[in-house]
Amino acid sequence: MTSIVYLNGQFLPRAEATLSVDDRGFFFGDGVYEVTRAVSGHIFEPMRHMRRLERGMRELRLKPPMSTDELLDLHAQLLHENDLEQGEATIYLQITRGAAVPRTHHFPPAGTAPTVFLSASAFSPPHEARARGVSAVTFPDYRWSRCDLKTVNLLASVMAKQHAVDNDAFESIFVRDTAITEGSHTNFFGVIGGELRTYPNSNYVLPGVTRDVVVEIAHELNFAVSETPIFVHEIPQLEECFVTGTTSDVMPIVKLDDRLVGRGEPGTMTMALYEALAARLAAVPVASAT
Ligand code: PDD
Repeated sequence: MTSIVYLNGQFLPRAEATLSVDDRGFFFGDGVYEVTRAVSGHIFEPMRHMRRLERGMRELRLKPPMSTDELLDLHAQLLHENDLEQGEATIYLQITRGAAVPRTHHFPPAGTAPTVFLSASAFSPPHEARARGVSAVTFPDYRWSRCDLKTVNLLASVMAKQHAVDNDAFESIFVRDTAITEGSHTNFFGVIGGELRTYPNSNYVLPGVTRDVVVEIAHELNFAVSETPIFVHEIPQLEECFVTGTTSDVMPIVKLDDRLVGRGEPGTMTMALYEALAARLAAVPVASAT
């Protein structure tokens, strides 16, 4: 079936959707994006995604092109157009500062229409990889210092993820100075001395929707939780570690830089957190119907 996308007011076949070469997303990476998960036609944690998007636009002084309700309606319509109201899907949304000539670093004239693009795809959660656990490699975190904004400037993440692929690993884990910050497209958690730790929400990590839900679940399960960084010298002490993200859920890491984590199998806290997250994902239709 041809994929239908949304671009600037129209639903149309993917092959017919074309952008201006003057789009500021193309020239400058001047835009924000979101990736959401839909289960049986219902978006998981829609308001957390929308709040992060709104904050990103505010920080970049990008005028929102429409209301949150209108954006969420577009998500629902896109699932319908693509016959993705059953099963699992991901939806990609990008908003850029629009197209303007001449190319200038400073903002284009007031009134320049932002570009709004959405596409949806069927999604299969990576259950087999989760059952075995995956490997990860460390990578220098040379990103800018506004990693809290979900901008389309993703070059460092592209280089990091390619480094993982080159090393047959699932993910690269960024290290800034001596602290583990997050993955190329995931947040990072580790267990040391029975305590679950993750880098605090700050300008150096993306406030992941899955991260925040997992921290909430960890408190509900009465796990010891500390939002403090794990340092590189602590890697040998990791009893468990995992990454979280919209397309990874909770993914156990069993090998980090050629060193087995714990016994080299998915940890018990990790899998308890995954099971609880999976239950929340499965409950999406019920929760949003109330
Ligand atoms: N990435 N950290 C980074 C740098 C990310 O790019 C992402 C998401 C996350 C996890 O955030 P969330 O739980 O809200 O998905 C953390 C998306 C999925 C992507 O770029 O495809």
